[in-house]
Amino acid sequence: MLRPRHALLAVLLSALPIAAAPAQNLDSLLARMTLEEKLGQLNLLSAGGRASPEQTALVRRGLVGGLFNVIGTENTRAVDRVATTESRLKIPLLFGLDVIHGFRTIFPIPLAEAGAFDPELAEATARAAGREAAAAGVNWTYAPMVDIARDPRWGRIAEGSGEDPYLGSLLAAARVRGFQESILATAKHFAAYGAAEAGRDYNTADISERTLREVYLPPFKAAVDAGVATLMSAFNDIGGVPASGNAWLTDTLLRRDWGFNGMVVSDWTSVAELIPHGIAGSRAEAGRRALTAGVDMDMQSSIYVETLAPLVQGGRIPMAVVDEAVRRVLRAKARVAALKPVAPNPVEIRALARRAARESIVLLKNEGGVLPLDKAAPVIAVIGPLADNRLDALGPWHTEGKPEDVVTVLQGIKSRVPASTQVLYAQGAGIEDTSTAGFADAVAAARRAKVAILVLGERHDMSGEAASRSSLGLPGVQQQLLEAVAATGTPVVLILMNGRPLILEWAAEHVPAIVETWYLGVEAGNATAEVLFGEVNPSGRLVATFPRSVGQIPLYYNHRNTGRPPAGDKFTSKYIDVPVTPRYPFGYGLSYTTFAYRDLKVASRTTVGSRDLQAGPVRLGPSDTLSVVVTVANTGSREGTEVVQLYVRDEVASVARPVRELKGFSRVTLKPGEARRIELRLAARDLAFYGLDMKRVVEPGTFRVFVGPNSAEGLEATFEVAYP
Ligand code: BGC
Repeated sequence: MLRPRHALLAVLLSALPIAAAPAQNLDSLLARMTLEEKLGQLNLLSAGGRASPEQTALVRRGLVGGLFNVIGTENTRAVDRVATTESRLKIPLLFGLDVIHGFRTIFPIPLAEAGAFDPELAEATARAAGREAAAAGVNWTYAPMVDIARDPRWGRIAEGSGEDPYLGSLLAAARVRGFQESILATAKHFAAYGAAEAGRDYNTADISERTLREVYLPPFKAAVDAGVATLMSAFNDIGGVPASGNAWLTDTLLRRDWGFNGMVVSDWTSVAELIPHGIAGSRAEAGRRALTAGVDMDMQSSIYVETLAPLVQGGRIPMAVVDEAVRRVLRAKARVAALKPVAPNPVEIRALARRAARESIVLLKNEGGVLPLDKAAPVIAVIGPLADNRLDALGPWHTEGKPEDVVTVLQGIKSRVPASTQVLYAQGAGIEDTSTAGFADAVAAARRAKVAILVLGERHDMSGEAASRSSLGLPGVQQQLLEAVAATGTPVVLILMNGRPLILEWAAEHVPAIVETWYLGVEAGNATAEVLFGEVNPSGRLVATFPRSVGQIPLYYNHRNTGRPPAGDKFTSKYIDVPVTPRYPFGYGLSYTTFAYRDLKVASRTTVGSRDLQAGPVRLGPSDTLSVVVTVANTGSREGTEVVQLYVRDEVASVARPVRELKGFSRVTLKPGEARRIELRLAARDLAFYGLDMKRVVEPGTFRVFVGPNSAEGLEATFEVAYP
């Protein structure tokens, strides 16, 4: 816990909660600050584990407001002591870190965890990670990453919740709540970073204001509404205006329209990058653009502290702008002081990691019931570069996670089979190898086995920042390895470990069973083996569309229809060389059991009362709520969990609406033979969109509602929105 010594700051920090921190306390502190000290509070620097002597000297002079990548309380305390006892104003530091999917205990990557469709789980893992980080002196995370991504070429799709704004918003809010029990959270990257053209990182995002508002902004709004302390401005430009120098975005929209009163931090040198973007000719001008746009803290450019004083003295930047930014930084520090971090419980956190890994696994294919496997098979072959690989299972942001904590798939399998079962292991090839020298061993192992489990995919750092790919097949010779093993005739189970949707055409046609495990973190091998042997029935769903070919990208479920929807006729919106449909749609995922949907009924909540709802058409007033009721039955022979999904389509509106939009879901666990009536609710205001005048509107008319197992299937009903 920080222990500010300075009397003024102590008053400020004790005036809690911060939202109510009396302005006069801040003002009296501000009044005592020199311009240099003010700009110092806006300066954020990265350390390499601990503060360097040069950084410590800057802290002593009051020229640093926060450090990140300082890890361990001995290191945070050491430099914080300099700030709070040796600097003139004794203001404590912020200590930031990217805690993206775990700190010490590594959880599944966010893209995987989102597939659990379980906000309570996302909140729990964020809470656990926040506790672990706080125990190591961190008080501010650069998470959650809430960028919607429709392009799997973009490596950072792994860090977010996929392509859907509704699910993305629920998870953004959940993660903010979870982290902020113990540390401050940051919703990033504001905004539209996920719309990087061609999936190339840092690239321009040239999207309409409507798409920005309806697709990319909702998770940020949800984070703001959940009380997120800070936002991070993105690297990209939006239609020519870089997000780190975009007054409309950070000032007008975020602060004025949304009422956000927290702090905005730039991304890593994104203030300096306004120069290569081409909107500033000098460092000082870049700093002026960013600060006046509302970017309060300058991460890693040192531009504010080094260049802005003369501009303020010369009147080119109003002192009021500097003061306001400093106030926001100080308020964030007061929020830190108000936190009461909870000590992490390693046993509980490890169990949570197992649960998260189980819920994240997606069964993509299971032809002929190859899965679950019989543990007592005499010989099982486990093959592939990721089968016994600890580091890569941790995924792109493994912070303080340790490879030695990881249970590999091979270990998970070995620890579950009886002594009578022989497990043969062959690596076959490295992830990016060009050599097929290891194939012979792999093929020999497969020949001897009842089943061959191939664990293939990407290296952990082929996802994440600066890791865009232009081809999405299995890297190296892994595809050939898969084909060579399949050619033995031994049934193949393909386990995928990767950070993005891959192109899996050959496997989808030729391999009987495919399991998408993403990067599951420390419990990867246990959770995967539990699924393989049927101890856990998979329930994860895809939150990003799997295309058939890279040429289809961007491909996402909530697209508009076009004037010529794909049909048999040549002159319709499609390709001549690949179907227009995805390989696996958003929301898709199989189970070891089967589910049937029946009796879809919709009714206005106002008229619900009797147990028998009327089938549509149903009229919904603008302030009514729709009740959507469906019976879901487990028609197989195992207990299983279904993610019941509700989608809506506005048939006719002043602006063309997506063919489907997710508006609700429910995870339901059913015993074999069990049927349950599920009710999902939809308020008329949830049907709002940005109209011709860019104002939110619910227009009267006919809507279709779909309830089913994914975005491409399901039962349908209609209802009307009518004005009284
Ligand atoms: C990334 C951010 C991250 C920051 C600090 C940047 O390169 O884009 O997501 O929070 O570095 O590590």
